[in-house]
Order: sequence, then C-alpha cells, then structure tokens
Amino acid sequence: MNIIDGKAVSKAVRERVAEETERLKKKGVTPGLAVIIVGEDPASQVYVRNKEKACEEVGFYSEKFALPENTTQEELNSLVQKLNQRDDINGILCQLPLPAHLDDKEVINLISPIKDVDAFHPENVGAIMIGDYHFLPCTPAGVMELIHSTGVDVCGKKAVVIGRSNIVGKPMAMLLLHENATVEITHSRTRNLSEITAGADILVAAIGKAKFVTADMVKEGAVVIDVGMNRDENGKLCGDVDFENVKDKCSYITPVPGGVGPMTISMLMQNTLTAAKLQNGIKD
Ligand code: GUN
Repeated sequence: MNIIDGKAVSKAVRERVAEETERLKKKGVTPGLAVIIVGEDPASQVYVRNKEKACEEVGFYSEKFALPENTTQEELNSLVQKLNQRDDINGILCQLPLPAHLDDKEVINLISPIKDVDAFHPENVGAIMIGDYHFLPCTPAGVMELIHSTGVDVCGKKAVVIGRSNIVGKPMAMLLLHENATVEITHSRTRNLSEITAGADILVAAIGKAKFVTADMVKEGAVVIDVGMNRDENGKLCGDVDFENVKDKCSYITPVPGGVGPMTISMLMQNTLTAAKLQNGIKD
C-alpha cells in the first residue's frame, strides 16, 4: 500500500503556478481572485482563509468579500456584476453553501463564464461534457492529478464513483471518462453497492458519510481516492473511507486530511492563472 501525498502533489502544482505567475507579472498581468463568502459558516471560513493564503503563496492579488448573513439576493447579484466588469479580477468564486434564503444557481449563472474558476456555470459544465473546456472543476481536477501522480494508467480501467453531486460526483465521472476509463456512478439509491465498488480498479468516494467505504467494498490492489471531509464519533477529521482497514488492501490511497483537500485549492490557483491568461490574450 502507498499513501498518496496530497500535500506534496499540491505543492508541486502551486510551484508551477507561482513560476508562471512570475512570468505573467513581467508582462504586466497579476492574476486576481475575488472570493465571496456570505454568513458565518465556520467550515466555509476556514476554506476561504486557505484560498486567500494560497493566493498569497503563488503571487496572486486576492480580495475577500465577507457579506453578512442577511445579505439580499440583489446585493449579492450586484456584487458579482461589479466584479464581472473589473479588469483586475480574473476569477470570481462564491463560497457554497449560501444561507438558505439565497439562490446559489442565480449567482452562479451571473458569474461571467470566463471568470468562473469553480467551473460551476452551465456554459462551463456543458464545455466539460463535450471535452472542450478552459476550466476543470477544482476537486475532480485535483483527484485526476493525484491519480496521475501514482503512474497508474486510467485507460480501460473500471472506475467507480460513489456520489453524484454537481460539484464532485458528476464531473468526476466525466473526467475519468475523458481518460478512457469505464465509469460507473453510484449513489444512495444504488442496489448492491458493495458488489459494484468491489469491482473497481479506481474507486472515488464522495458521499459525505464518515468511514462509509469498508474493506469488503474494495478490490485488492485498487486505487482509492477519498474526497470526504467528515468528523468521526470522537470529533476527529476523517474521510468517507475507513482508512485504517482499507489501506492494506489497496495499491494507493489518499489520507484525510492531506489528500484531496490541498489539491482542490491548488487547482483553483491553476484555474485563476488560466483565467488571467485568457482574459489578457496570453497563449503560452
Ligand atoms: N463549497 C465546497 N466546495 C466548494 C467549491 O469547490 N467551491 C465553492 N465555491 N464552494 C464550495
């Protein structure tokens, strides 16, 4: 069993982005990311802080917009429209989930597709579907980088994704398909889930249930990627995979924390860099 070091892979991506940013700055372009957060959700606050820190690390300009819980849809929409117009802002990210009275679809639809570094806008989702995209959604893109880091060839392998969210499960399946895996998407209503997962050469768990994937659900020698971020019965951070019991059965596995988490933010940096290049007509 090998533990995939998400921190190390993530660092390599950030170093590459930082180098490119330096080159871009010499051409007078500094990539800029706007991060919007509404309300006081503690997990979201941590994620947003980490995104700001990463921006600083790679040399981006970043601006945080912390809006109060009682922000109206009109206020939020109007901020997005202003950011769409600003030349110093190349990427706009609205941290989800939003408070219940706000409509996330409405906000996502308003973000200019060329500044949509989350790749959540329907135009970008469609582009991913047909394999003709500028931005890949950050978490699935990070998972692909982690799989590549193992040297395992995805082509022709059976890949099973557990979870069908718009942010992870669905685009994850599409990226695996682009690399010629045979992909099966499973979810809470799937029958005989364990049988299906036990046939997977590559298993991606994105369900949001602590230690849901047990050893009997995993094929000997599989690559197991854990997208989960949960708390166990003792309040300790853990993934969707029962790491201690599964680790000896697979060839590669990602830990939580230190696996997929750091990759997501690195891919956001990558997307913001791409956005800055696109908006300034820089090709190389
Ligand atoms: N909330 C959880 N994951 C994400 C993400 O990737 N992007 C945004 N905007 N919000 C999130």
